[in-house]
Amino acid sequence: MESFQLIPWERRLDEEAAELLYYAYRGHVDAIINDQYASVTGASRLIENIIHHQGCGEFLSRISRMAVHRSSQQLAGILTVTGIRPHTAHIPQVAVAESFQGRGVGSALMEAAFRDLAREGFEEATLTVTDQNAGAVRLYQRAGFQTFKTFGAFIYSREEAF
Ligand SMILES: CC(C)(COP(=O)(O)OP(=O)(O)OC[C@H]1O[C@@H](n2cnc3c(N)ncnc32)[C@H](O)[C@@H]1OP(=O)(O)O)[C@@H](O)C(=O)NCCC(=O)NCCS
Repeated sequence: MESFQLIPWERRLDEEAAELLYYAYRGHVDAIINDQYASVTGASRLIENIIHHQGCGEFLSRISRMAVHRSSQQLAGILTVTGIRPHTAHIPQVAVAESFQGRGVGSALMEAAFRDLAREGFEEATLTVTDQNAGAVRLYQRAGFQTFKTFGAFIYSREEAF
């Protein structure tokens, strides 16, 4: 991880974060479920919703993070964290750019956030993951997450419905 620097979320990098999301989710199962991943504009709205509109709880800017690749200064990964109850945090988004995946960036972002959450008195954290997303499921299991509830994702397609 010495090749990467973890920094607090910087709003001036929101657009870069949207691009990272768009590319990280290209051809991904979650892009079938959520069409906001299908364009950079959609990914921007998704980020705006988490950060500005508090769509997933109170955005915790001091705990959310970005990973920057030191030598290229490219944005390598993002992690958003929100507060949904006094002692419960939520992770609406974690993504690592494809070229930097498998190098511990996702794990490092989560570990750093968990340290801060514990220091601030948070006792638990929640997230949702698509079970076909095997890589992310492994990452979360290693981090200690356990399945609390399994539910179906239903996609409404106007073309097929009429
Ligand atoms: C899921 C995701 C965030 C994981 O990020 P990541 O940085 O690749 O995760 P890590 O590198 O920490 O761990 C992934 C793998 O790399 C391995 N790894 C960790 N550190 C490593 C290192 N220094 N060198 C080589 N490999 C390493 C891990 O052992 C792990 O292996 P596994 O596939 O056997 O579990 C990333 O794949 C991603 O952005 N996916 C698309 C978006 C997405 O699905 N987000 C989650 C939605 S719920």
